Order: sequence, then C-alpha cells, then structure tokens
Amino acid sequence: MSYKRVTLSHFLLDEQRRHAGSGSFTALLNDIRTACKMISHEVNRGAMAGNLGLAGAENVQGEEQKKLDVLANEIFLHMNALGGNYAGMASEELEDVRSVHGEAGRYLLLFDPLDGSSNIDVNISVGSIFSILRLPEGMSASTKEAFLQPGVEQVAAGYALYGSSTMLVLTTGNGVNGFTYDQNIGIFVLTHPNMRVPEDTREYSINASRSRFWDPPVRRYIEECQAGKTGPRGKDFNMRWVASMVAEVHRILCRGGIFLYPVDDDNRSKGGKLRLMYEANPMALIIEQAGGRATTGRQRILEVKPEGLHQRVGVILGSKTEVERLEGFYREYDSQ
Ligand code: AHG
Repeated sequence: MSYKRVTLSHFLLDEQRRHAGSGSFTALLNDIRTACKMISHEVNRGAMAGNLGLAGAENVQGEEQKKLDVLANEIFLHMNALGGNYAGMASEELEDVRSVHGEAGRYLLLFDPLDGSSNIDVNISVGSIFSILRLPEGMSASTKEAFLQPGVEQVAAGYALYGSSTMLVLTTGNGVNGFTYDQNIGIFVLTHPNMRVPEDTREYSINASRSRFWDPPVRRYIEECQAGKTGPRGKDFNMRWVASMVAEVHRILCRGGIFLYPVDDDNRSKGGKLRLMYEANPMALIIEQAGGRATTGRQRILEVKPEGLHQRVGVILGSKTEVERLEGFYREYDSQ
C-alpha cells in the first residue's frame, strides 16, 4: 500500500543502527536533502521565476555562471552551514574552501551544486553532486590541504537528479540506494533499493564531436562499438550523450553502459574536463558500490592523490566488463 513506504529518514536511521560507529548519516545528509529539495523547486520553476540565463559572471574555472549555478551554490552553502556537521565546504563555484563558523563539525562537504549547466535553459536534466570526507585530526577546515584526500576516504557520496522526477541517489559505503521525491508530501521515498550496474552493456556515452582529439585506446574502443554486429564485438551498440554527468551516471545505474570523458589532445594540458574532488570521486564511489568500475584509463579514480581542489581528471566509468576492456586497450597501447 502506498503509505507503507520507506522514507530517506527511515533508511538512514536503519543504516546507522546496522553499521554502528560509521557516522551519523541522518545528520550529515539532512541539510543536503533540504538543499536538493530547494534546488529542485528552483529548477522546476525555471523561466517563471526568472531563473534561466546567465548570471553575468565567471566561476573559478573561467566558465560562465548561469543564474541557477549561483543560486544552487548559495542554497548548498547556506543549508549545510546551519546543521553544525560540517567544519568546511568546497564547491565548483568557489575558488577557495569555505570554513564553517566555529569549525565545530567533524566532516567536510564538497559539491558541484548544479552539474550539466548547459542544459538549464533548454529544460533537460541537471543535477547536484556531493562528496563527504572526514576532517583529518589536527587539521583546519580553512586550509585546502584538509580536503585533498583520495576518493577512497569518502564517508558518503551522492547526487540529486532534477529530471522528469527528482531523485536522490546515495552511498554510505554499503551499496547504492535511490529515493524519488514525492513533491506532494515533501519526502524522499526509497524506490530503487540496492542499485546494481549491469555487467554487460550495448550502450556507450561520449561526446563524439571530440573524436579528432581522442587517444588511440579510446578511438579503438569506440570504433569497435560502432562496427556493431559485423565488427569484433559481434553486437550492435547504441549511443547516448545528455551532457549532464548526473543523468548519464543515473542511466548507467539503471540499465548499464559506459561513460567516457577521457583526457584527450585538447584537454590534456588541463588534466581532463571533469573535476576530481566533486564530480569524478563521488560518481566513482557510487559506481563501484553498485558493482561497476571507474578509472582514468590507467588508474582507479578513487586512488588518485589530489593535488588541487579543482583538479581535473579523465573519467571512464560504468559496466565492469566494458571498463576493463578499455583499460586493457590502454595497457596494450602503453606497452607498445
Ligand atoms: P558543467 O556543469 O560545468 O557544464 O559541466 C558538465 C559536465 C558533465 O556533466 C558533462 O558530462 C560534460 O561536462 C559535458 O561536456 P560537453 O559540453 O563537452 O558535452
């Protein structure tokens, strides 16, 4: 019956009971949940609230900020400073880390408040991505060094997808669970328990307009997919590109696939396109926790030692067998 539903609050309390000592997930996720509800509301109101279009400024990455980028960032910062759980925060939209007044919290929050911003004005899915780390003993949250921990150290990670429905998908290190937002009641309901990435797939996801920049292993992998039934794969593949990593990862969690934003000739000097700390790491943890694999091509993403807050990295993630195949191509290429 519809009232016999598991809410996000119930789920988190249960997680705490079953994994005693693994942290107060309810407290840590409470304000993130509220922030995501507020952002969902603003994304939904779109043009009616005057939320579309440019903010008239650039962020630290030199990218033009949309009004909703700025608003989502302010919502995330404000809501998560209130609860007292976080000693500091880092965002795609802020150059430096922001310590929370008093630094009383024991955790650090890193986030991309609105990923896939090129989709905002055309009413296509966008999302928020977050990663939670412990504040290392004896360090201050006002220094970026406290944040520069590899992805394996994440306590929890997740994303909110503002799509045809709003969903919150998260891992606290014990699998991946998805919650759909019931706007009428204002709660997230567990609708996708124990999400698993199917091992095999016939779907890949890459911005093909960049093919002239690709490294040989990526070119080889995609050409084999494109060759379809008559090629070495012996089966036809389909291609999808939403230009919103949250939407691509969600699709992969639901029906399998591989997502690639690799280092290529065009972005190599910057280290890639996607950001390690608040895009690649949380998504890599989610994908691994769902039985998939996440790599730069040559290294497990979660083991990359960060050197900068806004560091970029090549990202290849999704169904295990496909990612392993491409990793094999990188190995072969490197050994030639
Ligand atoms: P941003 O939110 O800064 O616009 O970045 C979006 C990211 C990611 O979500 C997506 O997969 C990719 O950039 C899209 O890149 P292209 O514009 O090259 O397609």
